[in-house]
Amino acid sequence: MTIDRGRVISPGRVNLLGEHVDYNDGVVLPAAIDRSVTIHFHRTTDPIVTLYARDLGEECSFDPHHLESKIDINGSPLPAWVLYPAGVIWNLLNYALPVKGFSADFHANIPIGAGLSSSAAVEVGFAVVCEALGGWQLDRMTLARICQEAEREYVGVNCGLMDQFACACGVDGHVVMLDTRSLLYRPVPLPLDTRIVIADSTLRRALIDSGYNQRRSDCDQAVAYFQTLDPSVRALRDVSLDLFLTAESELPPGVFRHARHVVEEIARVNEAIRLLEKDDAEDFGRLMFATHDSLRDLYEVSRPELDTLVEIAAKLDGCLGARLTGAGFGGCTVNLVRKDHVDDFVRQLGELYTTKTGLLAEIFVTMPSQGAHLS
Ligand code: GLA
Repeated sequence: MTIDRGRVISPGRVNLLGEHVDYNDGVVLPAAIDRSVTIHFHRTTDPIVTLYARDLGEECSFDPHHLESKIDINGSPLPAWVLYPAGVIWNLLNYALPVKGFSADFHANIPIGAGLSSSAAVEVGFAVVCEALGGWQLDRMTLARICQEAEREYVGVNCGLMDQFACACGVDGHVVMLDTRSLLYRPVPLPLDTRIVIADSTLRRALIDSGYNQRRSDCDQAVAYFQTLDPSVRALRDVSLDLFLTAESELPPGVFRHARHVVEEIARVNEAIRLLEKDDAEDFGRLMFATHDSLRDLYEVSRPELDTLVEIAAKLDGCLGARLTGAGFGGCTVNLVRKDHVDDFVRQLGELYTTKTGLLAEIFVTMPSQGAHLS
């Protein structure tokens, strides 16, 4: 179906468990959230794309067929915010999917740079816009992979698939379990009578690109070592904890710590899936706390403000689990909270965080939502 104008809603995501495992062939447990990017678009008669970012008050026009050099129609470098939609368009064209000229106006109520995947929401949202205008159709997994490639190859962040997957394939009321090796996925209900609460530390992420890419290359270095022992190892997923621990004196200490987080986190997610199937919210929550400790001490991507949010949450009634969510280096925590304690939890977490840090956290309950769609 081809249309001339419309509106796309594209959600952010929160990840419940399985952090920094999506580029190590592990399993992740994200959910699309009810905060999103909204894009109003209409077809134009010329082949140019014009974007207006309402939140920034900025506009940019570019020729989809001249994106290789990342310049706008006046020959100026594309601003950073344009790289995400432009990267997607560039990659759709690489796949020989026609992209029509259009004009779009978009805004978001996802906190930007807070680890809730506002960039993946923009990418997937614009892929859906191009699909609606172009008259072609892709399954959501393929769409997510094209957007992930755009972020890696055009924007330059060597990310895994989780964010684009969650934005494209989210399911109302569910966490969506994705095996990043087989790419099989299925929705899993949240534990009964629990809610997801997101707490934005308001600390914007620093050094995200370099820190992220660095962690990723540490994982690759660990994999290269294990391949010398066993050529069938393709990723850290293939390394058991017992085998891993024998490598302590063989790997640089930082690489060892970082890779240890990944090996243990992959095991935690497998355990978590069993717990979700039994609707065991308490033990699932304990794993969330364990993941936070590991992201802080082993993967070294937490910040003191995020640790403070988790420490406060752990002591509040009804809190089953809390941890930083997403890449880290700032951003948000995700909390699993008993439904009947949510209001008090939100209020007390906010008050105590301000008392301890002087900062005003934005804290909100979120419902797992459907992936990007025309609406
Ligand atoms: C970012 C990346 C994801 C994933 C997370 C960490 O959000 O885009 O692919 O690696 O960090 O789990």
